[in-house]
Amino acid sequence: MTTTLQEIEQQLKTLQQEATKAIAATNSTDELEKLRVNYLGKKGELSVILRSMGKLSVEDRPVIGNVANEVKQDIQTQLEEQKDRLQQQQLIAQLAAETLDVTMPGISRPVGNIHPLNGMIDRILDIFVGLGYTIAAGPHVESDYYNFEALNTPPDHPARDMQDTFYLPQEKLLRTHTSSVQIRYMEQHEPPLRIVAPGRVYRRDTVDATHSAVFHQVEILAVDRGLTFAQLKGTIQEFSRQIFGEDLPLRFRASYFPFTEPSAEVDVQWQGKWLEVMGCGMVDPNVLTAVGYDPEIYTGFAAGLGVERFAMVLHQIDDIRRLYNSDLRFLRQFSTTI
Ligand code: DAH
Repeated sequence: MTTTLQEIEQQLKTLQQEATKAIAATNSTDELEKLRVNYLGKKGELSVILRSMGKLSVEDRPVIGNVANEVKQDIQTQLEEQKDRLQQQQLIAQLAAETLDVTMPGISRPVGNIHPLNGMIDRILDIFVGLGYTIAAGPHVESDYYNFEALNTPPDHPARDMQDTFYLPQEKLLRTHTSSVQIRYMEQHEPPLRIVAPGRVYRRDTVDATHSAVFHQVEILAVDRGLTFAQLKGTIQEFSRQIFGEDLPLRFRASYFPFTEPSAEVDVQWQGKWLEVMGCGMVDPNVLTAVGYDPEIYTGFAAGLGVERFAMVLHQIDDIRRLYNSDLRFLRQFSTTI
């Protein structure tokens, strides 16, 4: 069978057309490389066609040679152009996938903050630590001795009433005030001493806007030679100045506590009324005697602060229950720096 010039030319044209279609249909550079090998490789279709050139006459060979070169050039150009196109597409897709929109809103995590009561306690402690006081603590489950008896509270005192105190089995009770820490600390230390003792206290109060069965106090106690009521007053005034500022009116009102003599209550002006925020006084000699101190040598002053009262005054809180019911809408209003 002889092969004519026209036949080979036709084969080359057909190859060119097929290649053009196949190249345009590729989606990846890998597919494209397969096509290159298939058409232009050593054993590729172009080589197969060119092998039949040997059967042509000497004059015809350069003619086919030219056509074959053109076809080869054309396919090569198309392969390169398609390769550029695919690489460009790939780059665009990659850039789109890796795009970072820096204007998108971030995922913010809520920042926690100190509970207003703990914040209040921290602030009170800071002030007294600044005045040279040491932080002390005592147990919540107490005996009658530390909560009442050693604090010069007579057996018939109304505070001991079942109505006021939570009694526990085995003669225990939940401390009704932090004053019990005074006794425990003095039993373990010799004067001079200055302590500030924060903590939770318990009373059988009916819960309402200003009462809670569990609340917080900070106890202050100083014992030394020659301490006077004037020093108690000066300490309280300096503390109030630091916590409320210069201008908040303050008054000392004569009062009674079994463990102090004389005793006073401190009121601050709040919303046009006097509001009691602490009790205080000179430590009763009987209390000093109970812990083995000689009241002829030592005198002391003490105070008990209502933490909730301070928080309510400073943050304009109208109902004590807001401080306990963990409503985040309420709690979020207090920054960590209160
Ligand atoms: N313990 C008293 C109470 O809970 C408060 C108090 C008054 C504490 C006078 C004191 C003080 O240290 O001297 O009501």
